[in-house]
Amino acid sequence: MNRRSREADESVERATTWTSHQLGYLFPRAPYYPWMQWDELYATGFAQIDQQHQTIFKSVGDLRRAIESDDGAAAYAQALAFLDRYSRDHFGLEERCMAKHRCPAAQVNKAQHEAMTQLLAEHRRLHTAHGYDNHDAHILVNALEHWLHNHICRVDRQLRHCVADGTI
Ligand SMILES: [Fe+2]
Ligand SMILES: [Fe+2]
Repeated sequence: MNRRSREADESVERATTWTSHQLGYLFPRAPYYPWMQWDELYATGFAQIDQQHQTIFKSVGDLRRAIESDDGAAAYAQALAFLDRYSRDHFGLEERCMAKHRCPAAQVNKAQHEAMTQLLAEHRRLHTAHGYDNHDAHILVNALEHWLHNHICRVDRQLRHCVADGTI
């Protein structure tokens, strides 16, 4: 394994290790989620948050398709910039919502958001330093798919229990 691949693997390792420590369960290495498909399974009870999750799913799904075709380089740079910006907005909104409704998952939510923000920043740094690499892109997309599924099911979805009328 060359140096850049090792750096990309290590960035996922750091983020997931920290996340599993916060949650207290073993967070396995990223498996392969074929495509990001929205399902009611992921609903939190807050329409705006669910819409944002759908936008993120679409972005990651489009990115998966792009890196498995010849358009990977351009799509990857755009997707990294979009996800970095959009996820910060989304994380901020969701953290304010959890704080307001005193959701018991608020602290874990914030810690996992920080881990994902670090992972995205690390991959932006790798991309800036070395340019596009299809292996790095697959590592990030695998990690995003795995993280989104687990994070929404185990953390974001706890909002269901603190909402009466669905207003943030
Ligand atoms: Fe979250
Ligand atoms: Fe979320």
